[in-house]
Amino acid sequence: MNYFSRTKTAFEQYINAEAPLTLGIETSCDETAAAILRGGREVLSMAVHTQIPIHRLYGGVVPEIASRSHAERITAVVDEALKSAGVSLDDIGAVAVTSSPGLIGALLVGVSFAKGIAMAKNLPMLGVNHIEGHIAANYLTYEGLEPPFMCLIASGGHSHIVLVKDYDEFELAGRTRDDAAGEAFDKVARALGLPYPGGPEVEKLAREGNSSAYPLHTPFNADTTNFDFSFSGVKTAVVNLMHNAEQKGESVNRADLAASFQHSVVETLSKKAVAAALAYNMKTLALAGGVSANSVLRERLQKECDKANLRFCRPDMRFCTDNAAMIACQGYYRMKKGERSDLDLNPSAESFLSR
Ligand code: KG4
Ligand code: ZN
Repeated sequence: MNYFSRTKTAFEQYINAEAPLTLGIETSCDETAAAILRGGREVLSMAVHTQIPIHRLYGGVVPEIASRSHAERITAVVDEALKSAGVSLDDIGAVAVTSSPGLIGALLVGVSFAKGIAMAKNLPMLGVNHIEGHIAANYLTYEGLEPPFMCLIASGGHSHIVLVKDYDEFELAGRTRDDAAGEAFDKVARALGLPYPGGPEVEKLAREGNSSAYPLHTPFNADTTNFDFSFSGVKTAVVNLMHNAEQKGESVNRADLAASFQHSVVETLSKKAVAAALAYNMKTLALAGGVSANSVLRERLQKECDKANLRFCRPDMRFCTDNAAMIACQGYYRMKKGERSDLDLNPSAESFLSR
């Protein structure tokens, strides 16, 4: 009997159980993460090994180093998640693993590890989309939150405004035409001489700056009848400002520049996301992805949502950046709908809802 038919009963038991345990695994970029989830929303444990100190030496993620580090750490990270939840692999009902999008070599480590566990323990398994996982971070934060709602996803690799019609059904309302929001933060940080990852560093520096010192708005981003946006122009404006000043021997107020850049990104994201939520008659706007950790963006969206009479949801800080609890959660809801992967599951670097 092959794996798929061998695990049929285990899958039915998982689907029918009231609160089955899901092991989540995430290795799409620079965090090796595992988590144990009970039912759809109760996080029993989260374990993360971050590679940030290694990649910081190179100013960004080095894919080959990422894959090797995942391979070295994954066993210990999964063990830690099981141990701190007080359970063993025998208690697990299914495995959910990030299978796209991301660095292909990094994804391969998590997917291969998940397959190994699924085969050895006769467990059902599902490959999960990382961006869907970020959206699901909101389910972990708000017990009663259910689709439909509008979601602004701003991460290092993706920036989208998505209508979440159901747990497994999405419609693209808008997206970046070029750089993702996190990517723009990272590139601007580098121009300002700040270390990787740039988002938290720019946020810190911006606290001491004047956000109206450098006007960095573009007509395209100010147009709220169109939900696409662009960050390449704003990023390039910052980089050029730094270069020009350097050539002329002038000094730039880095804190003012950081604050002005952050203000421009926050303004664009919040105005467009709120406009999209209203245009689609949604009552709730959620925020997701690594940039959702930005406190200025969180505060601004809260204000804009209050003004527009929308409920605003954002993940708890521990669920903002990459983690495996959000993957387990999204996996749970998709598996509940009858979806599962076979052993031919292949990771893919492909994007999310591309037009
Ligand atoms: O979602 P994530 O952890 O990984 C991807 O799926 O890409 O997002 C990482 C991104 C990085 O670009 C990082 O600079 C950004 O999120 N980020 C932030 C903040 N914290 C993380 N950007 C702005 N402000 C922050 N506080
Ligand atoms: Zn992510």
